[in-house]
Amino acid sequence: MKRIFSGIQPTHTMTLGNYLGAVRNWADLQKDFECLYCVVDLHALTIPQDPEILRRNTRELTAALLAAGIDPEGSILFAQSHVPGHSELAWLFGCLTPMGWLSRMTQFKDKAGKHRDQAMSGLFTYPVLMAADILVYRATHVPVGEDQKQHLELTREIAGSFNHRYGVEYFPLVEPQIFGAATRVMSLRDGTKKMSKSDSSDFSRINMTDDADLIAQKFRKAKTDPEPLPSAIEGLADRPEARNLVNIYAALARTTPEAVLATYGGKTFSTFKAALTDVAVAALSPVADEMNRLLADPAEIDALLRRGAERAGAMAAVTVGEVRDLMGLLRV
Ligand code: TYM
Repeated sequence: MKRIFSGIQPTHTMTLGNYLGAVRNWADLQKDFECLYCVVDLHALTIPQDPEILRRNTRELTAALLAAGIDPEGSILFAQSHVPGHSELAWLFGCLTPMGWLSRMTQFKDKAGKHRDQAMSGLFTYPVLMAADILVYRATHVPVGEDQKQHLELTREIAGSFNHRYGVEYFPLVEPQIFGAATRVMSLRDGTKKMSKSDSSDFSRINMTDDADLIAQKFRKAKTDPEPLPSAIEGLADRPEARNLVNIYAALARTTPEAVLATYGGKTFSTFKAALTDVAVAALSPVADEMNRLLADPAEIDALLRRGAERAGAMAAVTVGEVRDLMGLLRV
């Protein structure tokens, strides 16, 4: 059976990077797969969070996922902390994961920076919890943006290590699903840096909640170079900012970068940015409107997360029970 799991951290509202790199694909994949989508609140705790803001962001992100087309009946939508199997399996996997594997993770190196010894151990073991998120449902496919690729390789290693150690073919080796014209959306201020929820400048990103005026302003101020757009894709090779805007346009309009350049090659950035703003507003404003409508009823969002957790929890409990048996823990 083909089963999808994917997650997003409630550390901020959803960005255009999250949407184009992952969430829009999640919505599209629902017709072909059994899908579980999760707001990973435990992962958010690996960096300090204000409790009230974390609660608000968890509801807001749930609303954003619903507005982006996640169907809470056909798919299972829930909050990670509501299903204890994730943390339990993470502990069990932690006992099978060498420190060396975790030390290789570029995301840890980036986030911990120079002060590694002061970084929290939760940040270091984060990829183990991520493997548990996926494998507690024995998911086979994981749609993510490019930046999660290394974590999914580690998930495969952990699954392989478990299967080998216990002489079983219990956990599948997951397939990353990284597709679309914008698998790595870059910052609007620096085309060599990923567009990120945590960047200190709000002008580096488009948030799903930005209104038309703000989107226009952010694209107008986005860093570019003085040349007009090239007519062929090779012309973008050393122009990261231009390439990023072309990829964003292509993803939003569900076309290819080649087709975008066929139309806008030779045009100035001011012309292109105005057209880009139009496609962005057309794609994003219905999502923002729906999100605001849903947020007017937080009790309904909580009820929906509760129902999702019941369904996910029943599945996770089966896996955790079987893993406990395989590892030699006594039954309760
Ligand atoms: P997070 O919350 O940082 O991002 C959620 C999803 O958005 C994608 N993404 C991007 N894609 C393209 N361009 C960007 N600039 C960009 N920024 C973010 C991410 O690749 C991701 O797919 N560790 C994960 C959350 C997680 C998870 C999981 C994912 C926890 N457990 C299990 C899959 C399976 C994370 O921090 O995503």
